[in-house]
Amino acid sequence: MPRASTRREPAEMPTIFVPKETAPGERRVAAVPETVKRLVGAKLAVQVESGAGDAAGFPDDAYAAVGAQIVTEPRAAWASADAVFRVQAPRADEVGRMKHGALLFALLDPYRNVALAKLIAAQGVTAFAMELVPRTTRAQAIDVLSSQASIAGYKAVLLAASRLGKYFPLLMTAAGTIQPSRVVVLGAGVAGLMALATAKRLGAVVEVSDVRPAVKEQVESLGGRFIDLPELGSGEGAGGYAKELTPEFLAKQREILTARIQVADVVITTAQVPGKKAPVLLTREMVEGMKPGGVVVDIAAAQGGNCELTKADEEVVHRGVLILGPSNLPASVPQDASLLYARNLQTLLKLVTTKEGELKLPEGDEVVDGTCLCRDGRITHPQIAPLVD
Ligand code: NAI
Repeated sequence: MPRASTRREPAEMPTIFVPKETAPGERRVAAVPETVKRLVGAKLAVQVESGAGDAAGFPDDAYAAVGAQIVTEPRAAWASADAVFRVQAPRADEVGRMKHGALLFALLDPYRNVALAKLIAAQGVTAFAMELVPRTTRAQAIDVLSSQASIAGYKAVLLAASRLGKYFPLLMTAAGTIQPSRVVVLGAGVAGLMALATAKRLGAVVEVSDVRPAVKEQVESLGGRFIDLPELGSGEGAGGYAKELTPEFLAKQREILTARIQVADVVITTAQVPGKKAPVLLTREMVEGMKPGGVVVDIAAAQGGNCELTKADEEVVHRGVLILGPSNLPASVPQDASLLYARNLQTLLKLVTTKEGELKLPEGDEVVDGTCLCRDGRITHPQIAPLVD
């Protein structure tokens, strides 16, 4: 007897839509030809808005070659998609077009943009806020915070090196010796460790401060010197993150850092506390104590900045010190940032795809539940739900 065919008709395949990003300065895209090829291979239909990958170096042809349908009418695609892959949060009108039960994957800024979370929930869309991914071993392959922070740390150092009027490495030249630049990195999370590694590769002398003593070993293994905060104890909070610290702790920390900052040529600040404003680690007085020609790159600019003088996406020169506050460094390395982000999303999608190829959330999966912001019309995430009135 012939076996019943399990092959699905194209019309039955879930459709993933990849819209073009519309936020100013955003050059990344949420799917790249490599990931689209895998999605198509997994019997999903993929629609890519024409031009979506242009700024990241992925033209329409490259998507079409791996089986994507290129669409020029995004409104219809938003309305018919079973899942939307996006880098930045959608606008309210885009959310309003999505169908009930569709899935949305994007950076949704859930701690600050509770209004958007409510809107998405009310639309009946199941949304994954990629910032909420649990920092566990199993979730590493979908950890967009890590993949993007690493790029930010790398690019911050390149920006500093290109604006500093000095070499980074020690050089013995016929005209005499050049001393290496001194770089101080504040915050030794993913971005800070990448900044340390990048500055070391360029030959600088690097010192690093963090409130989590556990990172000292990692700093030293990358060739950095850890700035001890002896009397202060640990600032480690839940989930391996830093906790919000008292004003007294921060004041004492700044006192210890001042001496290190005074001899630095470059300061890269990366300190953040999830869901809170970034701690101020570099005051006006500390900047005034820096050497003229010094450069500060404040990666925490989008969260209010670690430097008192930072203005997001502006260049500030204060008493000869340049302070840069780029709010979206990953977008300035769009090809690799997109590649990594797209792989993160594709791996998460696998967790919500059944063996039969249907999009369905599994029961009791800690990675899926930990990243899911809202489903069934409600904000379900334990950290975000209490923020809703
Ligand atoms: P983050 O972006 O939240 O913060 C950056 C760094 O700033 C952190 O190291 C934090 O301790 C530090 N910081 C906060 N306040 C500070 C202050 N006053 N002074 C100096 N430093 C301060 O951190 P990120 O990079 O997202 O990493 C958070 C944690 O997650 C780390 O423990 C990291 O090792 C862990 N992690 C675990 C992963 C996994 O197991 N899958 C993957 C990635 C990160």
